[in-house]
Amino acid sequence: MKREIITPSIEWLGDRGRIIDQTRLPQEEVYLELGDYQSIASAITELKIRGAPAIGVVGAYAIALGALKIESAVRDEFLEKLRVIISTIASNRPTARNLFRAIDRMRQVAEAGGEVKQIKTALVDEAVKIHAEEAEATRKLSQFGAELIKDGFTILTHCNTGSLATAGYGTALGVIMRAKELGKKIKVFVTETRPLLQGARLTTWELKKVGIPFTLITDSMAGYFMSRGEVDCVMVGADRIAANGDTANKIGTYTLAVLAKENGIPFYVAAPTTTIDPSLFAGNEIPIEQRSAEEVTHIQGVRIAPECEAANPAFDVTPQRYITAIITEKGIIREPYGEGIKRDNVPRQ
Ligand code: MRU
Repeated sequence: MKREIITPSIEWLGDRGRIIDQTRLPQEEVYLELGDYQSIASAITELKIRGAPAIGVVGAYAIALGALKIESAVRDEFLEKLRVIISTIASNRPTARNLFRAIDRMRQVAEAGGEVKQIKTALVDEAVKIHAEEAEATRKLSQFGAELIKDGFTILTHCNTGSLATAGYGTALGVIMRAKELGKKIKVFVTETRPLLQGARLTTWELKKVGIPFTLITDSMAGYFMSRGEVDCVMVGADRIAANGDTANKIGTYTLAVLAKENGIPFYVAAPTTTIDPSLFAGNEIPIEQRSAEEVTHIQGVRIAPECEAANPAFDVTPQRYITAIITEKGIIREPYGEGIKRDNVPRQ
C-alpha cells in the first residue's frame, strides 16, 4: 500500500519553497511561500518550520535558493557569497544534526567544481535529493518501528515528530501511524511539551487527521499514567544521537526515559541515520540550544509569570542506558549502541 505524507511541511516550487507555518497551527492552516534564503532562515529561527529532519531539508533548499540568487558568474566570488549564506543557515539551530549533514552535502557539491551555472543546478538537485532521501528514510524506519508496537498498545510520545517535523512520514509519529495502518488497535498519550507546546498544538492535529485515538496530558502527568500501568511503551524522536547512543531530544525526554525505566516500560527512539553524529563520543558533547526566557514566562504571547529569570534549554540528553532500542531506516539498533551505529555505516561528516 502506497503511504501518503499527511501534511507535506515543505514543498519545492522550483524558484521558492512553500511551508506550512507551524506557529499558526492548529488554529489556522497558513502556507508561506519563501523566495529568498533570509526568509527561510527566519522561518527556522521562529520555528515556523521545525523538527530535526525538516530543518535539514529546508536548510538545503535555503542554500539552493540563496545560490540561485547570487548574481556573480565568477566562481570564487560566487563561492565566497555562498559561504555567507551557509553560515547564516548554520547559525540558527545548533542541536539538530540533520541540518549540519545537509549543509555539508551542499558545501561539497558547491566545491566539487564546474561553472557557476552548473553549480547552481547541482545545488538544487542535491536539495531535492536530500528531501527525497529523508522522506524515504522515515518511511522505512516507520515500518521497522511498527514491528515493536503490539496490538492494543498505548504509546506515550513527546513533542512533534510527524510529517510536520520531518518533511516525510514522521519518526516516532511515523512509527505510530504505520502501526495503525497495519491494523493494530493503538492509543496514544500526547505530552503537551512545554514551553512551545508542539505536542498539544501539532501532534494532536496530526493524530486527529488520521483518526488515531489519543489523550493529551501535561508533561508532569506522565509519571502518574506510567505508574498506573497505562503506558505500554514510550516512542520519541531525536535531534542528535552521539556515537554511544546518547540521544538529545526535546526538553523533557530525559525525564520520560528515567520514569519509563523506573516503571519497566520500553523506551524507543526513532530517527533517520542523518540524526546520528558519530563524531561525538557521548551525549555531553552535543550542543544544546538555549532559547529565549520569554518562551517560558509567556504562553503564546500572554505573560504567565512576573518579571523574573527563566531558563530555556530546548533539548536534553537521554543517556543510552535508558534507551531500549534506536529505530533507524536501516533497522533496529540495541545495546551495545556503539557497535550498531558503526555497523550501519553512518558517515562521520
Ligand atoms: O524544537 P523543535 O520543535 O524543532 O524540536 C523537535 C524535536 O525535539 C523532535 O522531537 C525532534 O526533532 C525529533 S523528530 C522529528
